[in-house]
Amino acid sequence: MRKAIIAGNWKMNNTASQGVALVNAIAPLVTDANCDVVVCVPAINIPAISEAIKGTNIKLGAENVHFAEKGAYTGEISAAMLLEYGVEYVIIGHSERRQYFGETDETVNKRTLTALANGITPIGCIGESLEERETGKTEDVLATQIHEGLKGIEDITKIVIAYEPVWAIGTGKTATAEQANETIAFIRTTVGEMFCPKCAAQLRIQYGGSMNAGNCKELMAMEEIDGGLIGGASLKAPDFAAIVNFDK
Ligand code: PGA
Repeated sequence: MRKAIIAGNWKMNNTASQGVALVNAIAPLVTDANCDVVVCVPAINIPAISEAIKGTNIKLGAENVHFAEKGAYTGEISAAMLLEYGVEYVIIGHSERRQYFGETDETVNKRTLTALANGITPIGCIGESLEERETGKTEDVLATQIHEGLKGIEDITKIVIAYEPVWAIGTGKTATAEQANETIAFIRTTVGEMFCPKCAAQLRIQYGGSMNAGNCKELMAMEEIDGGLIGGASLKAPDFAAIVNFDK
């Protein structure tokens, strides 16, 4: 049995004080969660959120990590910096990073290996664009992202994958539950072939892209979907809590 994981991706939203108010509002609504509850927050908010979630069942995530341990990488954040504040998860290779900040499968791979080496769970994002889906390239694109992004990983069960069709992110357009389930099954099979089928069966794969309080039950009911990476709906406490409590 794979434990579900619902993670908020705040992106570039919320100042530290707004973020603290948000987690303070979320915390009492998710105390009975059966899943792992994570908020991935802007780096500068990490110290404040780390304090605010003490004594709650909310875990802390970052939105990126650099692959070097330290050094001349102006503007980047290292794993050690995250660890000092109890960060347990880190989003890697989000489509916005790939699209706007030149992230490639190679940098995704390096960041993923660094996170793992430091005991931080990577939430590795993969997904196809609308054009790629419409021209029948979805499986090829995902297979490349998997083969290149995940190479060299020793224990694949230590990561989380987020399948996020780019056309569904922030658009209000969700993949149908069947589409998401089918694609995630393909991802699991591909990971199984690359590593081992038994490990792939234990790997947690989230769906992301306009998941909200209204559609989360249907998505989470699908056999292959083990959680959600939630953007817009993670910015409102009742909405995020409703997703976390999808099974109630
Ligand atoms: P969305 O974002 O829920 O706003 O579509 C998801 C994501 O980008 O992780």
